[in-house]
Amino acid sequence: MLEVFNTVQLTIAPGNDNPFLHGPFEPNAREYTADTDTLKVIGEIPKDLHGIFVRNTHNQVHESIGVYHPFDGDGMLHAVHFENGRATYRNRFVRTTGFLAEQAAGRSLWPGLMAPQLAARRGWGAIGAMKDNAGTDVLCHTGKLISVMSQGSEPWRLDPITLETLGPDQNWARKVPDGLSSHFKVDPETGEMMFFNYPEHWPYMHYGIIDRNNQLTHYVPIELPGPRWPHDLGITRNYTILHDLPHFFDPEALKRGERKLGFYPDMPARFGVVPRHGGNDQIRWFEASSCFILHISNCYEDGDEIVMDGCIMPKPFVAPVGYEGKDIYERIRSRLDKHNNKTMMHRWRFNLKTGKTSEQYIDDEVTEFPVCSNDYVGRPYRYSYNILYKKGDWLFSGLKRYDLLTGQTMRYEYGEGRYGSEPQVARRIGAKAEDDGYVIVMVADMNANRSEVLVLDAANISAGPVATIVLPERMCCGTHACWVEGDRIHGEARALEAIPAA
Ligand SMILES: [Fe+2]
Repeated sequence: MLEVFNTVQLTIAPGNDNPFLHGPFEPNAREYTADTDTLKVIGEIPKDLHGIFVRNTHNQVHESIGVYHPFDGDGMLHAVHFENGRATYRNRFVRTTGFLAEQAAGRSLWPGLMAPQLAARRGWGAIGAMKDNAGTDVLCHTGKLISVMSQGSEPWRLDPITLETLGPDQNWARKVPDGLSSHFKVDPETGEMMFFNYPEHWPYMHYGIIDRNNQLTHYVPIELPGPRWPHDLGITRNYTILHDLPHFFDPEALKRGERKLGFYPDMPARFGVVPRHGGNDQIRWFEASSCFILHISNCYEDGDEIVMDGCIMPKPFVAPVGYEGKDIYERIRSRLDKHNNKTMMHRWRFNLKTGKTSEQYIDDEVTEFPVCSNDYVGRPYRYSYNILYKKGDWLFSGLKRYDLLTGQTMRYEYGEGRYGSEPQVARRIGAKAEDDGYVIVMVADMNANRSEVLVLDAANISAGPVATIVLPERMCCGTHACWVEGDRIHGEARALEAIPAA
């Protein structure tokens, strides 16, 4: 079966030379439903692979207001549902309020990250000017996908099988007016989802919990010294780790309504360790070397210490937001190129007894988007799967696996002209070891002008894919992904034997 579910009208001007709308980033207009009875499969889809791989994408539909930034595009989810050695592929736009309004208007109504000053109407996110594109993060909780924009979205729910947009969460969306930021984390055992947001107004951050029955059970202010630009949080079994990093909009310029993202190397990074159900009064702040962090791999408790692994940017590259001019594309690319930022795997340890932080470099190769198995989130773990970057670009050239116990690494590179996205770890049915299963990633092949979903052996990624599913057309490159285990598709009912004891 191969059906076109819907086709949208792309209105990007033919002369638009923005490189983030061409080549690997060329937007798609068609939404498909197709299965492996029709799609080409190279190799064999494992029969013990059961669940749904979902990847989010900024897939721009309209000519933008101001310069298009690759984080502005309309959210489109790509999902591959694996079961019994077969797979079904779907891609769908996230039909947010903003997306539907622009569909009705036939043009952009909100500007993007590069031009919030051009907003003619109230928008969403920490800045309050952008369309809620819901194109950054995606995760499954209580049997529904949640798709959000990084600066804070309404929590857009989608059916994980059909990808039908169900709307902002009906139980709690109205109780979190500052929205849901990427990223949020689900405890695999309790089914609780921990999240944060970071408005430009006091208290500058909120922290909350949605329980396994999809009820908001906790929502507290976290006071920061001013507006910040955090991107991730970490969880352990008993704590949540929040970020206050010295990379934020220049406060003086912000008072004038200008947003100039700056890095302040003389300020330490601060990490707030808060008991899972605690608040501002119980948070303990740990200082560490100045840095910015986009993504962490995992956190866990180790005696008196909290361990946090992630990718550190000791000196993030800073270019002014709002700059207009021909070389603006080069400025965007320079900022996104992780080789400019030297983003590397790093370990922080926060000692709850002494209040001290210790740090350890894990690797000096540039990697980012570190992920571990859902079953090990918040627990001691061994393997992180990161992406490798093409130097000088915002393109992902391969995967690197870290064995954090032995220090050994393993890699798989896609080859020239082939670009991936965030991988996901899909443990096989009945898995005992952490890496007993598969790594799944979506790749755009510019040589063959097609996109593929690769299934690799998680214990031996260097061997290359055990199965490759060729998608109906080449799809715009995207970033974050999630894996929904077969037993979580209808709710937080993961088999307890799959979750390791902490
Ligand atoms: Fe992210």
